[in-house]
Amino acid sequence: METDRFVRKIYLQKKRVGRRWHPRFTTGQKGTENPKRMYNEINLDEINLMQEPPAAEPGRQYYFMAKCRALVRELSGKLGRQPQACTKTFGCQMNARDSEKLTGILELIGYTITEDEHADLVIYNTCTVRENANLKVYGRLGVLGGMKKKQPHKLIALCGCMMQEPEVVEKIRKSYRFVDLIFGTHNIYKFAELLAACLEGDGMIIDVWKDTDKIVENLPVERKYPFKSGVNIMFGCNNFCSYCIVPYVRGRERSREPREILREIERLAADGVVEVMLLGQNVNSYGKNLPEPMSFAQLLREVEKIDGIKRIRFMTSHPKDLSDELIEVMASSEKICRHMHLPLQSGSSRILKIMNRRYTKEQYLALVEKLRRAIPDISLTTDIIVGFPGETEEDFEETLDVVRRARYDSAFTFIYSKRTGTPAAAMENQVPEEVVKERFDRLLALVQEISGEMAARLTGQTLPVLAEEVNSQDASLLTGRLSNNLLVHFPGDASLIGKIVDVHLQECRGFYYMGERY
Ligand code: 5AD
Ligand code: SF4
Repeated sequence: METDRFVRKIYLQKKRVGRRWHPRFTTGQKGTENPKRMYNEINLDEINLMQEPPAAEPGRQYYFMAKCRALVRELSGKLGRQPQACTKTFGCQMNARDSEKLTGILELIGYTITEDEHADLVIYNTCTVRENANLKVYGRLGVLGGMKKKQPHKLIALCGCMMQEPEVVEKIRKSYRFVDLIFGTHNIYKFAELLAACLEGDGMIIDVWKDTDKIVENLPVERKYPFKSGVNIMFGCNNFCSYCIVPYVRGRERSREPREILREIERLAADGVVEVMLLGQNVNSYGKNLPEPMSFAQLLREVEKIDGIKRIRFMTSHPKDLSDELIEVMASSEKICRHMHLPLQSGSSRILKIMNRRYTKEQYLALVEKLRRAIPDISLTTDIIVGFPGETEEDFEETLDVVRRARYDSAFTFIYSKRTGTPAAAMENQVPEEVVKERFDRLLALVQEISGEMAARLTGQTLPVLAEEVNSQDASLLTGRLSNNLLVHFPGDASLIGKIVDVHLQECRGFYYMGERY
């Protein structure tokens, strides 16, 4: 049950228990369900807007989509053209997937989707994992405010992790009064309902929930790529690493029911998707709290059985929960990609303890060894934080030592950022900026040296590549990905996009390959 909301302004939802109502899904031809078409074939015009909105989800949201569509038509009449909407995503894959859900709704209700922020509706799906993510949003918001002076009908909406912070909402309420809609991570499924209120009304609407255990299934979603898709398998995080704000803004861990996940992937496969990325903050603890518990490895086994799915990726793994069962499933799988993102954060057992990571340097390295032994061609990537409070030169040397031994294919390196409300923010021994910068540069140089060497190890091999797009620099080339996630450019035409083709890896140029079709 969703708990109380810390801000609730202007928009008061009338709670009515209506008739149980479900959207009418029209399936594709002869019983083959086609998800994209299925959602688009719901005839929103058949929904009777004279009736009260239904109480049950997702029916309630389809009612509001119908309402939004009527309002967008009205707006279109006034503007003399189709209104445009632009969604900008900051942050991680979770946010990217959430933005696809927003775009799915926007398309369905009649907006034309654009990348241009001069659009009639602009949504920022924000990130707050590090301070500079927040600063970026404030900067760009100022620019949007300027645009709105020339486009008074423009709607500006903010959502995502940053909106889960009460101080942020307060700041926007006071200093960015031109914003029309603020909502959070827990009620993103209510977007149509909130947008309808926005299109009808005046003034800022704020609807942010502290937490929820609600998962609403079967809402529209518009994929960025026709041939690959993210699939949420769980939401939230229970780990409370002491530097991290995610558990506070994304709430407690909630796993989706396996049958819902599998049904979604079956529909994606029927719609031409060949690669899925299973998404969660800590996929290794998937299923622990389900009424009928299921491990992540078991879920992977089920996903593997789905015809049409050729590649399975997942993100992110926590080392403390990575099971032998998962390694076995990966090792024996034809479909699970040879890539593991295994965040290290620090190589010092002392710092790891204060970070509340619940593994030591030795345990981490043992895990890496086990993975490499079971899956020799695996590509390992990681996240590392430099300058966590109290990090000494010796601690930092331990991090460099793990990098040398684990030999990552690539690493995301971050300067520690103080996040208000997390235990680490209250720690007194913050590391001076110049020391952090110096360490950061040393780490980056080492990571780059090793990842250059690691990337080159496949030169001369012929490996399957999923062709993803026409190369942005040279239209005679396609850009694709190896199972281990490395990019490959090779001659080919657009008809190959979405297909897996064998490519001979001729030359490694730093972090990508130049190849030829075999
Ligand atoms: N400062 C710096 N980096 C952070 N991360 C999470 N919180 C912080 C923070 N406060 C990094 C971690 C995580 C990645 C997504 O972001 O490395 O794995
Ligand atoms: Fe943040 Fe740790 Fe959860 Fe990852 S596992 S989201 S770093 S709290």
